[in-house]
Amino acid sequence: MKIILVKPSFEYKVSFLAALREFQAEGLPWVMDIDPVELANNFEKFVNDENSKMTNWTKDSPVPQTELWGIVDGEYAGRIAIRHKLNEDLKIMGGHIGYDTRPSFRGKGIASSMFAQALPVAKSLGITEALITCNDNNFASIRIIEKNGGELRETKLQAPDGPLKRYYWITL
Ligand SMILES: CC(C)(COP(=O)(O)OP(=O)(O)OC[C@H]1O[C@@H](n2cnc3c(N)ncnc32)[C@H](O)[C@@H]1OP(=O)(O)O)[C@@H](O)C(=O)NCCC(=O)NCCS
Repeated sequence: MKIILVKPSFEYKVSFLAALREFQAEGLPWVMDIDPVELANNFEKFVNDENSKMTNWTKDSPVPQTELWGIVDGEYAGRIAIRHKLNEDLKIMGGHIGYDTRPSFRGKGIASSMFAQALPVAKSLGITEALITCNDNNFASIRIIEKNGGELRETKLQAPDGPLKRYYWITL
């Protein structure tokens, strides 16, 4: 299966909206606030915003974030985000790189391919050591990070009542 990384584009509107419905059906936390109807009506603005994005969920100062979409046979299959630098919140959760694969496309190597392709992009943005965080029970994510050279430096609770997190670093 060939997967390419592209900049967010209007071209993938139909499959992006289908993917959003799948993510919301499984309850992926960071997409639950998106109103699909509003998004469909304002997709062009959404795409423009995605292409000049800053992190919008951290309390600390936002940092620039490059969004890339994974496309298989012309369809949106997932996304990967590269934060150009860390702020205090990203050091605790999120790190430099975050990703998700559309549920109906999982288990086919999509995230592995997006991740491997994103590392040189991160390097080109000036990142020399990338932090990747993931939950201690996210076995697919752990595998992706470790097979791409991730070095586990720390495992700790994200917050006193938060999940156990793994903190991996990859030298680029
Ligand atoms: C984690 C996630 C991105 C994986 O996406 P994916 O496209 O299915 O991943 P891949 O198909 O590339 O699989 C990656 C590896 O994990 C393995 N894997 C998949 N599910 C697994 C599981 N439940 N337990 C153990 N290993 C698993 C695969 O076999 C593969 O390893 P391999 O290359 O040795 O065969 C996807 O499940 C997802 O979007 N989850 C929700 C969001 C999320 O957790 N994002 C990551 C935040 S850190």
